[in-house]
Amino acid sequence: MRRPCVAGNWKMHKTVQESIALVKELMPGLDSIEKVDSVICPPFTALAKVSDLIKDSKIEIGAQNLYWEEQGAYTGEISPGMVAEVAEYVILGHSERRAYFQDTDDTVNKKVLAALNAGLKPILCVGETLEENEQGKTGAVVKRQLTAALKDVSVEKFGKIMIAYEPVWAIGTGKAATAEGANQVIKEFVRDQVASLYSNEAADKVRILYGGSVKPENAKEYFQQPDIDGALVGGASLKADAFIQITKAAA
Ligand code: PGA
Repeated sequence: MRRPCVAGNWKMHKTVQESIALVKELMPGLDSIEKVDSVICPPFTALAKVSDLIKDSKIEIGAQNLYWEEQGAYTGEISPGMVAEVAEYVILGHSERRAYFQDTDDTVNKKVLAALNAGLKPILCVGETLEENEQGKTGAVVKRQLTAALKDVSVEKFGKIMIAYEPVWAIGTGKAATAEGANQVIKEFVRDQVASLYSNEAADKVRILYGGSVKPENAKEYFQQPDIDGALVGGASLKADAFIQITKAAA
């Protein structure tokens, strides 16, 4: 049995003070929910403070990006080692990074390899755009993204990765994929591609989250699907009540 995980991607929201306030609201609720992993991904500036706050909580923490070099003259960038000092997870390949910040299949692969080397657990995002979806390219896109991102990742290191299937047209739009539709993509394209890249055992073990307009009202439908192991939540992760309710639905 794969243990469910609900991860919150705060994106570019919350100052340090606001992050502290949200974490204080989240802790009692999330700590009382058993059998689900909870991960929150605040912005870089809040990571150190939040990681201190959650030390005695079961909440885990992730960053939203990193750069693959260990150090150097890369103004504005954050290295895997810097992230690993304050976080366990890191979201990589998010569609917003691919769309606005020139992340490519190749740079996502570099980031995945660097994150794993630093001992971080990547939450690797894949998903098709609306246009690709309408052209029937979902399977091809998702498989291409996975194959590229996982190039040179050993099966042992792959064990540290969670995958998030996030159809781009469902992110922040309120237009969520149907639970059956998301499950089908996850089973037929994501899990099967892991099986062909690694093994059936690796495919069986890897946790695959759905992301895109997950809310308290629709969360349960996703979690009832056999191949969906949790959610990567954007907008609804910024409100303690909503995030706690979604996490409860996964328990
Ligand atoms: P959303 O974002 O829940 O606001 O649609 C999901 C994500 O981008 O991870």
